[in-house]
Amino acid sequence: MRSEKFIKLFEPFRIKKLSLKNRIVMPPMASRLALPDGTVSESLINYYEERAKGGVGLIIVEYSYIDDKASKALPGQLGVYDEKLIPLLNELAERIKEHGAKAALQINHAGRSTSKTIIGRRPLAPSALTVPRGDEMTKELSIEEIEEIIEAYGEAARRTKAAGFDLVEIHGAHGYLICQFLSPFTNRRTDKYGSDRAIFALEVVKRVREKVGEDFPIGFRISGDEYIDGGVTLELSKDYARRIAEAGADYIHVSAGATVTVDKFISPMYYPPGGLVYLAQEIRKVVTIPVITVGSICDPLLAEEILKEGKADLVSMGRALIADPELPNKAAEGRLEDIRPCIRCNEGCYSRLREFKTQRCTVNPSVGRERRFEIISANSAKNILVVGGGPGGMEAARVAAIRGHNVTLYEKEKELGGQLRIASIPPFKADVKRFIDYLSTQIRKLDVKVELGKEFCFETINRIRPDAVVVATGARPLIPDIPGISKSFVHTAVDILTGKKQSGENVAVAGGGMVGCETSLYLAQNKKNVVIIEMLGDIGIDIEPNSRMVVLRMLRENGVKIMNNVRLKEVRDGSIIIIDRNWEEHSIEIESLIVALGSAPNRSLIKDLLDNDMKFYAIGDCVEPRKSINAIEEGFRVGREL
Ligand SMILES: Cc1cc2nc3c(=O)[nH]c(=O)nc-3n(C[C@H](O)[C@H](O)[C@H](O)COP(=O)(O)O)c2cc1C
Ligand code: SF4
Repeated sequence: MRSEKFIKLFEPFRIKKLSLKNRIVMPPMASRLALPDGTVSESLINYYEERAKGGVGLIIVEYSYIDDKASKALPGQLGVYDEKLIPLLNELAERIKEHGAKAALQINHAGRSTSKTIIGRRPLAPSALTVPRGDEMTKELSIEEIEEIIEAYGEAARRTKAAGFDLVEIHGAHGYLICQFLSPFTNRRTDKYGSDRAIFALEVVKRVREKVGEDFPIGFRISGDEYIDGGVTLELSKDYARRIAEAGADYIHVSAGATVTVDKFISPMYYPPGGLVYLAQEIRKVVTIPVITVGSICDPLLAEEILKEGKADLVSMGRALIADPELPNKAAEGRLEDIRPCIRCNEGCYSRLREFKTQRCTVNPSVGRERRFEIISANSAKNILVVGGGPGGMEAARVAAIRGHNVTLYEKEKELGGQLRIASIPPFKADVKRFIDYLSTQIRKLDVKVELGKEFCFETINRIRPDAVVVATGARPLIPDIPGISKSFVHTAVDILTGKKQSGENVAVAGGGMVGCETSLYLAQNKKNVVIIEMLGDIGIDIEPNSRMVVLRMLRENGVKIMNNVRLKEVRDGSIIIIDRNWEEHSIEIESLIVALGSAPNRSLIKDLLDNDMKFYAIGDCVEPRKSINAIEEGFRVGREL
């Protein structure tokens, strides 16, 4: 039965003669799962097949480099530069199509958005400038080189069709080569490719059309706004989109941003959902071909609303489909509470790509390991005891229960979620709250017996007599041993976020890590005057880089003062004493001091179990305080192993 909540989302749609079963698109997202020479790997096929099975209408496979000279953007990137790649590209396309989804491939030349380390030579670009992240100079393309590249796009599109894909998407966004030609910031040429910056894109579209024939659909991805001074604006992109459509494109996929404004198109949780829809809506007014919108549309109800209001024809849901490949099927069945929500943390997906690792996901440990990490029923049902209801403990309970075990979970607080629940309290972390709600709902539906508000004591083990114990007792805030720290106006970040304690008007936050930064932001948004005291030379260094950029900006905008390279020495009545790196002391008057100086593992149960020679599995922060991605993966692994 199709859910009545969705009228437009599951309506079939046509791009040219290609019929899509619904209007949900998986946009191209680099996985870095290809082999070193760009060949499709088995894990890459499994990754896409999982999403095709989940009910998405169209999968646009990640950007693939079009020649083996200078077009590659990342190691592990998929290639479409040679005939030898066609057989496995074909296997990929067929495995996607087997499940009723249509398969597209995005083709790309990196231009200046690469490096000598990756391509073995100076990056090529419309004009000689330094590369976006570094001081390497690019080489300005000659006319002959430009013509060669246009031919390479055509050839890549021909191979895409030959490999059995249903359509080809030309990547004209995000600061890669075509976008560099379109952008006044990066295209400073004085020849025909500079006097009309659209010419290169138009020639690529036309050459691709010549190579694939009239009937084969061609898509074009554009940055509706680059959000950089002197870059592509909405007015410009409207003009480009209109001309690109006239040149033969069959849809426009409206994203945004350039290499230095990644936060705009892979936006972290601090941005409101659907923030780029207005760009698609505006471009849709000037073209007659379908328009796809994208950008932080993780909720199918929002996707439905966008379509109903006529703002776009199709909706791309990227990270939402990494987090839960089954999102379309679950939405169609009205099982919205079963959708594992992307929390827009960028930790597992985007951040790992920057570190030259394969794509993973904080909330879905199977990403990139779909077959290896399948959840298989246990041979016999065991009684499992999980102590600690943070994300790791809940994930262990969820997976063990799916496998058929009888699971009991003890949590000392009155609510599930552990540290992550507390972190999700500020309004700007609503995505995280949705994930905690998801896990809580799942373990309830799976009949996990949850004992809340009960401090677990070792004797309980003798009473329950479990077959296995999972210890997920987390960590507690670290309080430094300095004079005056026990004064009544000193609180932990946890006390403040949970509302157990209220701060005064003038607040110092000791510790500029993620917890300190987010607590400061929360307080500043509640009209407090906040200063962050940080020992290191910079703050937020444990925050994922894309998110960090945004957090630092928000701290600035909210008037938070930052003092780096200083150490808290003493707490006095109404003030704190800090020492700077020249060993000079300063006094700061405050009404409250918030301590956010890290955490220490809660190991008392581990000690009891060791003392009694009992076998157990320890996961998450009680082993060593780390990020949610680690705790959740460990919970998942233990749940599979039990
Ligand atoms: C890990 C990752 C890799 C990406 N790779 C590509 C890519 O290959 N080509 C592209 O056009 N966009 C790429 N993007 C951008 C996405 O297609 C999409 O526009 C972006 O994630 C915003 O959509 P979302 O909020 O639904 O995730 C990538 C995004 C992520 C998170
Ligand atoms: S790693 Fe984070 S942002 Fe990326 S898909 Fe998973 S939950 Fe979403």
